Amino acid sequence: MENPFNMENRKTISGFSKLSKRGKIKWIVENFFRDPELVMKDLISYWHHDEEQQRILDGFSENTISNYHMPFGVAPNFVIDGETYCIPMVIEESSVVAAASSAGKFWMSRGGFNTQVLGTTKIGQVHFKWTGIPARLYYFFPEIQKKLRTEALSVTANMVKRGGGITGIELLDFTDREPDLFQIKVSFETCNSMGANFINTVLEQFASSLKQYFITNDSLTDTEKDVKIIMSILSNYTPECLVRAEVQCPVGELGNFSGGMDAWQFAEKFRMAVKIAHLDPYRATTHNKGIFNGIDAVVLATGNDFRAIEACGHTYASKNGAYQSLSHCTVEDDMFRFWLEIPLAVGTIGGLTSLHPIAKRSLELLGNPGAEKLMRIIAAVGLAQNFAALRSLVTTGIQQGHMRMHLLNVLNHLQASEHEMKEAIHFFSNKVVSFSHVREFLDKLRVG
Ligand code: MEV
Repeated sequence: MENPFNMENRKTISGFSKLSKRGKIKWIVENFFRDPELVMKDLISYWHHDEEQQRILDGFSENTISNYHMPFGVAPNFVIDGETYCIPMVIEESSVVAAASSAGKFWMSRGGFNTQVLGTTKIGQVHFKWTGIPARLYYFFPEIQKKLRTEALSVTANMVKRGGGITGIELLDFTDREPDLFQIKVSFETCNSMGANFINTVLEQFASSLKQYFITNDSLTDTEKDVKIIMSILSNYTPECLVRAEVQCPVGELGNFSGGMDAWQFAEKFRMAVKIAHLDPYRATTHNKGIFNGIDAVVLATGNDFRAIEACGHTYASKNGAYQSLSHCTVEDDMFRFWLEIPLAVGTIGGLTSLHPIAKRSLELLGNPGAEKLMRIIAAVGLAQNFAALRSLVTTGIQQGHMRMHLLNVLNHLQASEHEMKEAIHFFSNKVVSFSHVREFLDKLRVG
């Protein structure tokens, strides 16, 4: 094998994946860093002290050289459908966990969060090209469907035993948009697993059965026998894997807010903030981002796929033809109602959920919920996060809370003592926080 370290252009390499972990780090630090030894030490310092645990983490991806740490926090005091939860959250943005905790506590004394799972259907697609009259394909489809189901039995048997499997098969005609393009759209129930592997395996089996059907069907012309499978893959858009979370209370019970704002003024301003996110996609994006601050944090903590959840949520937010808020608010008959409807295709078995040591602990912390319960919990946290953000925005403004966290981060960075922290928090309670301002304050305090 050629020596990867002797390549003329040292910033490219062949055979990188075959190097040992130390070998990979060596190549990286020597080619991309000014102080290779220091960086090497730094990267190695984040390896897990337990080799077995490190082996598990390395198994999740490829070309791993170290671990990237993220804070693992909790938001206690969440009452969801009458049960109390302490919510695990993995997020790097300060204020998110504090905001979730505060909203959880706020609603705890006002009936908590009520949720409803509206569906658990997952979707997969086989995209293919077929030349012929669409009506002929529809004519053959009942027979095709039978073949697909029969030949997938060995793949679906286990899932069927668990109460799931294929729940529907549909033929879709796309020929008005692209010549000869069709799709087999399949609905699945995957019980407590997210089901990606199961769905993709079934779809690939379907594709192969479909091809076989056309080749072996003697009543078809030669052109009609020619089916071209384009691809078989699950869809991350699962509008029927849907959950709703809601809070409500009489307006008067919302309490009073900063700046002398009473409950009715608050409720109206809050309702308007939600309405704006229904009217304007610029605001809707930020509004929904706030919802995903909470959702992603729990999705990540429980070892689920946050990219899938986000992609799906944003598509769902556009279902009416424009990108809109995922949450809704009404103030009617003196009742304040605030709810979120969101598709959440999550699992509590399989994938990372049982392999990642902390994901396992997160699920344990939640009482080892099934997928439906996890959907309810995640939706409640998304709603809480949205409530907390809007409550700040329509009362004090978001910066007050953010600035306190920012101040703590700056103080930590400047290695402030406990006494210095106390003094700084008091001093900056009514001032704008900037790095240089805090440093100046500490310098003066340290000299004086
Ligand atoms: C910040 O991460 C999230 C917010 O911008 C959400 C919102 O504006 O609703 C505060």
